[in-house]
Amino acid sequence: MLEVQNLNVYYGDSHVIRNVGFALGERETLAIMGRNGMGKTTLLKSLIGLLPARSGNVALDGKQLLGRKSYERVAEGLAYVPQGRMIFPYLTVEENILSGMENMPDKTVPQFVYDTFPVLHEMRNRKGGNLSGGQQQQLAISRALVSNPKVLILDEPTEGIQPSIIKDIAKTLNRLKTERNFSMVVSEQVLWFTQEIADRFLIIEKGEFVYEDSKERVDTAKIHAFLTV
Ligand SMILES: Nc1ncnc2c1ncn2[C@@H]1O[C@H](COP(=O)(O)OP(=O)(O)OP(=O)(O)O)[C@@H](O)[C@H]1O
Ligand SMILES: [Mg+2]
Repeated sequence: MLEVQNLNVYYGDSHVIRNVGFALGERETLAIMGRNGMGKTTLLKSLIGLLPARSGNVALDGKQLLGRKSYERVAEGLAYVPQGRMIFPYLTVEENILSGMENMPDKTVPQFVYDTFPVLHEMRNRKGGNLSGGQQQQLAISRALVSNPKVLILDEPTEGIQPSIIKDIAKTLNRLKTERNFSMVVSEQVLWFTQEIADRFLIIEKGEFVYEDSKERVDTAKIHAFLTV
């Protein structure tokens, strides 16, 4: 599905992502976990094309994506939920959702969105900025999913959200993934959340993958140690 090889990303002279590689299978969920500043956002932004990679390969279904623009990567099947959600505060909920469909012929909100998130239907004419953090996260996920992605990329979706809502988000993502048939790459620092959704865990430290675990044999103490040192 998604294949990343020897990816290197710099800010000026600062080498932030170092020879990163992974392969993501169909319907697989991969959690990329690491503390603040370890490179999660930089890695995800380079996958979606918001930051250029200096070298490496990113391929989706065998199609090379490196060097292509974000909107082209979305058209190929990537979708992105940014850290902090980045809702347009002065656009309505509905306009925010439709902003994810710019390249598509149909300009109506697909039924699955409001079926999945009834609160977004209730609030469809309110400004995005008036929603709670959890509601904005539902909105950001909807905006990403209306392009029918093969791979959904989420950057720290639990940040600033209450634990009870985080649980709902995990449940909903698992259901949507099965119903709509996509894979996920999710960056996180909250292990109990990724344990609800991930098949595999990769730990990133200073821009390099340093440890890997699978759902079947996850060493939670070890992962916690990486996240709290
Ligand atoms: N625009 C930028 N210019 C220069 N350096 C940057 C820039 N953005 C991030 N960095 C640096 O790159 C490194 C990785 O940052 P990044 O934001 O990818 O980490 P992160 O794992 O997403 O952290 P967090 O959990 O806080 O979101 C950090 O050392 C950070 O200071
Ligand atoms: Mg980040």
